[in-house]
Amino acid sequence: MEIQAIDGGFAREVSGVELWRELPDPVLEALRDAWTRHGVLVFRRQALSEEEYAAFGRKFGELDVTVRPDWGSKHRPDVIHISNMRNGKGESIGGLGAGELDWHTDQSYVANPSTGSMLYMVEMPPAGGRTWWANLQLAWEALSEAAKRRIEPLHVVYDYLLRQSTYDDEAPMSEELRHRTPPVSHPLVNVHPVTGQKALYLDPVTAAGIEGWPADESRDLIAEVRAHATQPAFVYAHEWQIGDVVMWDNGFLMHRREEFDPSALRWLKRTTLYLPPDRHIVPPSRPV
Ligand code: SIN
Repeated sequence: MEIQAIDGGFAREVSGVELWRELPDPVLEALRDAWTRHGVLVFRRQALSEEEYAAFGRKFGELDVTVRPDWGSKHRPDVIHISNMRNGKGESIGGLGAGELDWHTDQSYVANPSTGSMLYMVEMPPAGGRTWWANLQLAWEALSEAAKRRIEPLHVVYDYLLRQSTYDDEAPMSEELRHRTPPVSHPLVNVHPVTGQKALYLDPVTAAGIEGWPADESRDLIAEVRAHATQPAFVYAHEWQIGDVVMWDNGFLMHRREEFDPSALRWLKRTTLYLPPDRHIVPPSRPV
C-alpha cells in the first residue's frame, strides 16, 4: 500500500489496496493514522457490495443511521444513496438532487455528530458534479493572532431546517424530522486529540448564528470565516471516476459539490461513521 499527497496538497491518495478484502491490522492502522492526520483519503478503482462497503467503514467507527432513512438503501439503512436518479416508478432513489451544494459539514446539526463520511461513486455525469473539500486546520493556522483570539471562544448554533431548505427535490420538513433535529451549538474552534493542532469547525449552510451575538454580526462573521477558509490554498477538488471511494473527517473539513446537468445520471453511496474522539475531532455540543 502507498499513501501519497495529491498534487502536493493535504488530500492523500491510497493505492495498492482492495477494500473488498479483509485488510491486515497494520494496513488498517496506517489508514486510521493517515485519515486522522490528513482528513481526506481517496481510493481509486474499487468494486464493493454494500456489505463490503459497510464492513470497511466499520473498521474506523460505528456506522450511523442518519436522520434521512428516506435516502437509505433498501438493503442496509446505514448506506444511503446520494443521487438525482429515479426508479421505474419515477420515485427518487436518493437525496441531494443535481444542484450545487454550498460549503457545509455533515452532521453539524446533531448534538453528538458522526463525523466520518465516505462516498463511493457508482454512476457519474460526463461533466460537473466535482466535490471539493476545505481544510479548516490549515485555515485556522493562517488566521492572524488577533482573529484567532477573537473567534476562539465562540460557539455556533446549527439548525437542520436551514440546511434542508437548500436541497432541491425536497418535500417540506415533516414534524417528525423537525422533532429529531432540534438546534444545537458547537465550538467554532477545536483541538485535534492526536496532533494537538487547532482547527475551525463550521457549517455555513446550517449555521443559524453565533451564540449570544446579534443576527447581523453573526452573519458577517460566519461569511468572513467561510471566505477565509475556502481560499484555494486550503481546498482540494476531486475529479470523480467510477469506483472511487473518498473518506473525509468532518471534524476539520467542509465540503461542497458543483452542480451538474439534471438530465445526466449521478449516484453515490454514502456511509457515515462515529469516529472515536481519542483519534479525531468530535465537536462537543451544548443545549441551545
Ligand atoms: C454531500 O454533500 O454529502 C454530497 C457530496 C456529493 O454529492 O458529491
